[in-house]
Amino acid sequence: MASQKTIKIRVKRYIPEKAEEPFYSEYDVPYSEDMVVLDALNYIKDNLDGSLSFRWSCRMGVCGSCSANVDGKPKLTCSSFLKESKGDSILVEPLSHFRTIKDLVVEIDVFVKKLKSIKPWIIRNEEKPIADGEYLQTPEQRDLIKQTSMCINCMLCYEACPVFDMDNDFIGPAAAAISYRSVMDSRDDGAKERLDILTSKHGVWDCTYIGECSVVCPKAVDPALAIQKLKAMGGISIIKSLLPKKK
Ligand code: SF4
Ligand code: FES
Repeated sequence: MASQKTIKIRVKRYIPEKAEEPFYSEYDVPYSEDMVVLDALNYIKDNLDGSLSFRWSCRMGVCGSCSANVDGKPKLTCSSFLKESKGDSILVEPLSHFRTIKDLVVEIDVFVKKLKSIKPWIIRNEEKPIADGEYLQTPEQRDLIKQTSMCINCMLCYEACPVFDMDNDFIGPAAAAISYRSVMDSRDDGAKERLDILTSKHGVWDCTYIGECSVVCPKAVDPALAIQKLKAMGGISIIKSLLPKKK
């Protein structure tokens, strides 16, 4: 009987209660064409090493929780097929722009804080009575926010962003893209409020338009473009605020 084909999975580990420094563990995992990196990690967890820690939930590119560096590139492990690997081993490492808690699990508070800061909910000047029904949109109004609505908060764009690497206070790609979505939403009245936040210190002006955020985004959100559009909107908003008020 032919022996089962295997692939070596090399994982960067960090177990603070055992060792101060990170180290690497290697595992031989049975290989099949339809396996993704997350399947390999789950195989390791179930069969080889129960101490390996990593996040995941949906296994289908929706929850955004399985992000890691696969062979040095920021990816969703549930969407990275083993067969895409060029060599006979695959390197899996945690996102490096976030503090590692254990193995592939990183601290996400810094990102959640940014999300909260841009108020990612509908802001209304006046709420209409519930009895009046939903706030309806036309297909054209919906199209304006469709692309940025696809964000799954996976943080891969922050891993690809050199500005965020230098300055963790930078608002960053996803928070900006989600802001753009809110600003363009026909049901929302919070544009000025958000633009004030986005054009303040550590806001969109810090983006140097490298564009890697859009390259790595698994949902084609194009946060780099959203940031440039916000810069234009923010500039207009600032100029308007400087003009003399009509009497
Ligand atoms: S913009 Fe793209 S890469 Fe960034 S968090 Fe959203 S889905 Fe992930
Ligand atoms: S497990 Fe949900 S996006 Fe990968």
